[in-house]
Amino acid sequence: MVEAFDVVDLIRAKRDKGTLSTAQIDWLIDAYTRGYVADEQMSAMTMAIFLNGMEREEIRDLTLAMIASGETLNFDGLDKPTTDKHSTGGVGDKITLPLAPLVASFGVAVPQLSGRGLGHTGGTLDKLESIPGWRANLSNEEFHQQLKDVGAVVCAAGSGLAPADGKLYALRDITGTVEAIPLIASSIMSKKIAEGTAALVLDVKFGSGAFMQDPARSRELAETMVRIGKDAGVKTVALLSNMNVPLGLAIGNANEVRESVEVLAGGGPKDVVELTVALAREMLALAGQPDADVEAALADGRAMDTWRAMISAQGGEPDAPLPVAKESHVVLAERDGVLTTQHALPFGISAWRLGAGRARKEDPVDHAAGIDLHAKPGDTVTKGQPLFTMHTSDAARFDRALEALEGAYVVGDAGSAIEDGGPLIAGRVD
Ligand code: URA
Repeated sequence: MVEAFDVVDLIRAKRDKGTLSTAQIDWLIDAYTRGYVADEQMSAMTMAIFLNGMEREEIRDLTLAMIASGETLNFDGLDKPTTDKHSTGGVGDKITLPLAPLVASFGVAVPQLSGRGLGHTGGTLDKLESIPGWRANLSNEEFHQQLKDVGAVVCAAGSGLAPADGKLYALRDITGTVEAIPLIASSIMSKKIAEGTAALVLDVKFGSGAFMQDPARSRELAETMVRIGKDAGVKTVALLSNMNVPLGLAIGNANEVRESVEVLAGGGPKDVVELTVALAREMLALAGQPDADVEAALADGRAMDTWRAMISAQGGEPDAPLPVAKESHVVLAERDGVLTTQHALPFGISAWRLGAGRARKEDPVDHAAGIDLHAKPGDTVTKGQPLFTMHTSDAARFDRALEALEGAYVVGDAGSAIEDGGPLIAGRVD
């Protein structure tokens, strides 16, 4: 086979701040997926992109080329609009659990292909797998049938979607090139567009517990992803949300399911409800229901009915008791005052060290492990009051989990400034 381009020419072009054509990007991604372009050549290319960026058209072409490397799903036969959401990940981020059934209770299909957690941000599938019987792997027929019957499906993404991204992401991970906005945006969007949804709402997080800490960079990421979505014909909107403080009161797996069920029952922590409702409104507006009364569906049990149907359809028992940890450790306030600080990242790391997350892809997670918060920044506390409870199956894990929390929470004098990073939803990009 005669190759259409010489990869060294393309690397030089990008190194010298040039622009690659559609044909060059299509060839590059195809040749890399085939193994003709070597990892060391692609590493040089991703570093050149990291340093010099990409034009809008190049980012679109890169995304489309990664989509073309694998299969794409199609919902043409479905008699409901489709809409999905993607979060860039955070600590205590269980929003998909109440959100998918809530949106589906309005007759809209939510095909949500998810992943497992790695590092301090948990994975949606890990959380749902704490429900006895629930299974993440569905056949194509089961997936389509559940979308038709229930509307909401959260299941494992097969390796067939955007395989070029899988290979490239693994390479970026070991070459210091993950944090390039064109590469992150095309990576996330290639998988979401390949999934076949007509509309997409992005929850782009910023702050200490987020993948992208700086609000200006997270806005740039959101703008880039929204442009890719539009260029590919997917209605796309992004909310920018604050991840300086853990979301809700539960960080872990089973405890996050419990908290999600509280939201579906019309209760739950204020911030989890606020973000769920805001994202549901955006998803429903894109699906043609801008006036949907989202709060009513939480209050009157419609969203809960859809949750129960969604869990049962995947073999789960919605009424079965969730796993409870053997060991727990309560941390108490050492003085009277106000909780001023609760940094998301160390709480995420601590929950991970308790066993809620995995360090390697093949590790199991401890579904009962995690942290339950009893106070949030701004709350008045008294000496001896529980601030949070740590749970694990293995008491030997407490020391390192506590170490992660040194300086992560502070009880200050009444009237002290609260370090929560500002409002939960800081912006919108469309
Ligand atoms: N998540 C992805 O899927 N890809 C990235 O590049 C970063 C986060």
